[in-house]
Amino acid sequence: MIKEVKIVSKNFDIPNSHNIEVALKNGRYSSIDKLWSYNNQDIIDIVKDSGLRGKGGGGASAGDKWALMPLDGDKPNYLVINCDESEPGTFKDREIISKDPHLLIEGIIYSAYAINSHQAYIYIRGEYKEFQDILQSAIDEAYSKNFLGENIFNRGYNLDITIHRGAGAYICGEKSALLESLEGKRGHPRLKPHQKEPEWYFDNPTLVNNVETIASVPFIINNGAEAYKSYGTELSSGTLLFALSGHIKNRGVYEAEFGTSMMDYINHYGGGIRDNKKLKAVIPGGASTTILTAKEVENITLDYESLRAIGSSLGTGGMIIIDEDTNMVEALKNLVEFYHHESCGQCTPCREGSSWVDTIMKSILDGVANNRDIDKILEIANTMNGKTVCVFAPALADVIRGFILKFRDEFEGYIKVD
Ligand SMILES: Cc1cc2nc3c(=O)[nH]c(=O)nc-3n(C[C@H](O)[C@H](O)[C@H](O)COP(=O)(O)O)c2cc1C
Repeated sequence: MIKEVKIVSKNFDIPNSHNIEVALKNGRYSSIDKLWSYNNQDIIDIVKDSGLRGKGGGGASAGDKWALMPLDGDKPNYLVINCDESEPGTFKDREIISKDPHLLIEGIIYSAYAINSHQAYIYIRGEYKEFQDILQSAIDEAYSKNFLGENIFNRGYNLDITIHRGAGAYICGEKSALLESLEGKRGHPRLKPHQKEPEWYFDNPTLVNNVETIASVPFIINNGAEAYKSYGTELSSGTLLFALSGHIKNRGVYEAEFGTSMMDYINHYGGGIRDNKKLKAVIPGGASTTILTAKEVENITLDYESLRAIGSSLGTGGMIIIDEDTNMVEALKNLVEFYHHESCGQCTPCREGSSWVDTIMKSILDGVANNRDIDKILEIANTMNGKTVCVFAPALADVIRGFILKFRDEFEGYIKVD
């Protein structure tokens, strides 16, 4: 059975919750006094203790990442909030910025203070203009109350927030491509360092976190690390704004604890499969996670460890529900077309691999492919793994392998030539 829990989504259903007066009446900025009683390291330690994990897809420990930021360096530190949210099936961050933008702003104040940053950027996908406008109004309200700007809350701390609008490239959600784009360059991911270090914005130490990660911080500061850890599992603590899309009765974003049964979640919040059809499969965490069969869904719980144990991943928690009538060959073609279009083209295995698989998928659907072509796709997927600057190509390789290995008979059903 589902235990309903609302940490980040607590104010979502309150009318005009994006308005600062409504937000203030409903608890926003209420723990700000607590903030000033802590020093930077205290906040980082609390976030570390809480087990908060990044909610942009990777699930890395937020506290460990914050701890990489130099607190007494001679360069300015930057905080960058990732609101690119371009992954098919993922639409949770827009809920936060449109329904409770002051939660994000409050989270930014805590997080910026923790890493000693006086400038935060919110990188938002270009298509989110209407949500950007709501967020900008909330930021303007916060400035007018002296919650942002110089000497905020009369505590001698300066903090500015600037929204930067992306131009519609999925790859700009990858943190280093995002920073390239923020610097005014083409959004190409950067080579990763061998050791753990901060990100760099114009050569200055920078922390990049997802919107929901930062929006989870006020609860933790307000209630303490233990309160956050009381939700979820031992290794995946807290909650996530999971989402449902596809062939489901109630599409939407519903918060749940990590460790919740996927099937219970689908039935409780989603109301079951649309038109009372049978479930065929679920893409569990945004389009770039390995598909699960209905059988696999029966026994799986929504946490990082369980999904990894069956060869998939939790990703962003955006579940795409697929019913029994779905043609899996067409579904994979649709996804591959997206990735082919969005590959930034920097790395050969990604640029050529996504294009080649797309071409073969078309030939399968056209009925002019043979059985070796299906194996060729798997071979190409293998060449896309581990040889690129970012994980776009390996993720696509997993998506391809998942569809073909789990639904191969459907692909073979299209083969009419030797
Ligand atoms: C192709 C690609 C797209 C990504 N898109 C997003 C995105 O839209 N939003 C996001 O928060 N993270 C995205 N990420 C993950 C980011 O690189 C980064 O890990 C994340 O913003 C860090 O924040 P977190 O630790 O709070 O999750 C993407 C990664 C890849 C490889």
